[in-house]
Amino acid sequence: MKITSKELRQKWIKFYEEKGHLDIGAVSLIGDGSTGVMFNVAGMQPLMPYLLGKPHPSGKKRLCNVQGCMRTVDIDSVGDASHFTFFEMMGNWSLGDYFKEEKTAWTFELLTKVFGLEKDKLCVTVFEGNEAAPRDNETAEYLKQLGIKEDHIFYLPKEDNWWELEGTVGTPCGPDNEWFYPLDRAKKNPVFPDDYVEIGNDVYMQYKKTEGGYEPLANKNVDTGFGFDRMLLFLNGLSDGYKTDLFLPAIKKIESLSGVRYDDGGEAQKAMRIIADHTRTTVMLIGDKQGVLPSNTGAGYILRRLMRRAIRYCKSLGISSEAMSAVAKIFIEEVYDEAYPILKEKENYILEEIAKEAERFETTLTQGMKEFEKCVNGLERKNEFMSKSNPNYVKETVIGGKAAFRLYDTYGFPLELTEELAAEKGLTVDTVGFNEAFKEHQEKSRVLPGQFKGGLESHSEKATAYHTATHLLNAALKQVLSPDCNQKGSNITDERMRYDFNFPRPMTDEEIKEVERIVNEKIKEDIPVVFKEMSLEEARAQHFVGVFDSKYGEVVKTYAIGEFSKEMCGGPHVEHTGVLGKFRIVKEQSSSAGIRRIKAVLE
Ligand code: ALA
Repeated sequence: MKITSKELRQKWIKFYEEKGHLDIGAVSLIGDGSTGVMFNVAGMQPLMPYLLGKPHPSGKKRLCNVQGCMRTVDIDSVGDASHFTFFEMMGNWSLGDYFKEEKTAWTFELLTKVFGLEKDKLCVTVFEGNEAAPRDNETAEYLKQLGIKEDHIFYLPKEDNWWELEGTVGTPCGPDNEWFYPLDRAKKNPVFPDDYVEIGNDVYMQYKKTEGGYEPLANKNVDTGFGFDRMLLFLNGLSDGYKTDLFLPAIKKIESLSGVRYDDGGEAQKAMRIIADHTRTTVMLIGDKQGVLPSNTGAGYILRRLMRRAIRYCKSLGISSEAMSAVAKIFIEEVYDEAYPILKEKENYILEEIAKEAERFETTLTQGMKEFEKCVNGLERKNEFMSKSNPNYVKETVIGGKAAFRLYDTYGFPLELTEELAAEKGLTVDTVGFNEAFKEHQEKSRVLPGQFKGGLESHSEKATAYHTATHLLNAALKQVLSPDCNQKGSNITDERMRYDFNFPRPMTDEEIKEVERIVNEKIKEDIPVVFKEMSLEEARAQHFVGVFDSKYGEVVKTYAIGEFSKEMCGGPHVEHTGVLGKFRIVKEQSSSAGIRRIKAVLE
């Protein structure tokens, strides 16, 4: 290796620290719910409030870090040399401090001096301008002053040189310039863009996305993002993402367990990549500060999908799912030990949870595969039979929704797994039918409680769910009755919750209905419950409610459910509201003078 992952991390941080930046470290991978995004998809995402103008709690205007991100849109593409579900983004930010001149100079310095790239080979694209924002002549000028050749600067439209989070209004965005270098560094006279790869970009976040367009922000910010994994690959002159030191030890482990050689390629290589990628993401999700666990909804479901896909591929290599634990250990102990010490702290927990999920799935996987084969054979037999009697017969290529649901419900096959298995046979799955079967089953299980295995499983999980429901209830009461309504007591069992609060009169039926409606709406939105520790002052500044008798400077635990509910609280809570079920107020009565009591259930 020309440069190791550990060295690259250090170099990035050191370079920007020397330019006056504070290393703020990585925060949770899980989005805070404010933009409705489940995971951080970019390094800037946790910093959005500050890019929009809120002062950073550190008081600093120059920040940097290496932030874990996740992109789940192309889980199915993982298996080739360049798709991953987890990646890290090296970032640095100016919150209304320096702007284009410094940023351009520093990126240039980093690339040429620290990473030794040749200035004459660099190509940079800049924004060509449109009705929302002008052409970025300034950056082009600075680039030229630095010695970038004029014919290596390209002006491109919004599709290329404008950065924003897709589909979200109220978020910061702006024009960017992107830095490119020849993929094959030895190539003589490389041609842009065919021979080039993008290695990173500097975004000039000076706009806020609105419903109809863009409005200028008070602060002119810089948001830099250089893909860590990609940069590592590039600097080492590699083209297969599984050959860097982030993955190689895991691949070696899978080779030794399976006796298969990675370099032999083919289906086995694809399986190895999937096991390695999905195990790494599993480690990052379970080991995250907000620890996700496999479940049937939300982030937990994504995790379950990844884990079960990896387990299935272990099977295809003829190794047991214990391989997944062995690979997880390598990520925890060797690869990410310095960057994410939390993984080491949570090592036993992570390994146990992997083992548990593997056990749950392995018992049904073999049976489920047989069941799947039966579906396929049934379809083939039917096609064969019909073709014989009717030469115009069009073959059926769709696996029924009911069959897919049976695989899901009885054998724990995530729908996407069945779809993937089907695709391997040139078939598709009737997902509409699947959803119908799913709904039908849910309705039935409401009448026959305990039949459906999804959702919350154990008693303690129920109590936790009720606890989260008290937070939603508290926020809804404040909204419907009065901001002065505060919790005065609560008592939770596995069957119901009791909640006392101050209010001078009985609630009307309409008020009760409205509170129920709001709580259920928040459950439906499946908002992540975000845990953070912070100083009491910070919690107050961020409008967290709760007991304010903590000491000055003390660290308090906070739980936020989007912007809807923010409480200081010791926990525990569910990971996201979608698991709560349906909230119903059973009774509203007087508890003592000026105190009302609500009894409610989750159904
Ligand atoms: N936000 C920019 C990116 O993710 C820097 O590429």
